[in-house]
Amino acid sequence: MGDARLLAPEKSISWGHAQPRGGLAAAVALAAALAGALIFMALPGTARAAGREPKAAQAPSGNVTRGKKLFTSYGCYECHGRAAQGGTGPMLGPHPIPFSALLSYVRHPAGNMPPFTAKVASDQDLADIFAFLSSLPEPPKLKDIPLLRERTAKQ
Ligand code: HEC
Repeated sequence: MGDARLLAPEKSISWGHAQPRGGLAAAVALAAALAGALIFMALPGTARAAGREPKAAQAPSGNVTRGKKLFTSYGCYECHGRAAQGGTGPMLGPHPIPFSALLSYVRHPAGNMPPFTAKVASDQDLADIFAFLSSLPEPPKLKDIPLLRERTAKQ
């Protein structure tokens, strides 16, 4: 969860994106970020642990197109990336935490994320964002990224 912050602590509250530093540094940063994302997905996080019921039982119906627009207009993308792939904030899709956990986290974040109250983002807005997150394509597998494959082969 803290991978991006570990890589660039000075950027932890920044609303911008880390620019690729080119060459080896970028490759190493990319590999570390991807590994971090994988570890993050595998480990139960705070919000993750909050909702234990099966996702299908509580996922409300949401509108993917509207959710995508809201993800941009509410600025979620500034920290989580346009495709929710992660940035300053963690990766959010394509397998988001259960809706109840997402809802309570967005309303009462525990870390660096700013809270979004029901006045700002309604439950329906968040249900639409949840639908958008769930609709995202699977990220490429590590073995399908040539730069990483090359580097692993050399070690
Ligand atoms: C200013 C940066 C920022 C913005 C804007 C932001 N987030 Fe976050 N978000 C974070 C960070 C950083 C975390 C990691 C935990 C923390 O520090 O709060 C996080 C964590 C989360 C989590 C918990 C993930 C998990 O697996 O535990 C969810 C869900 C989430 N954000 C959804 C959203 C949504 C939806 C929006 C837009 C309405 C949004 N965030 C906007 C920075 C941001």
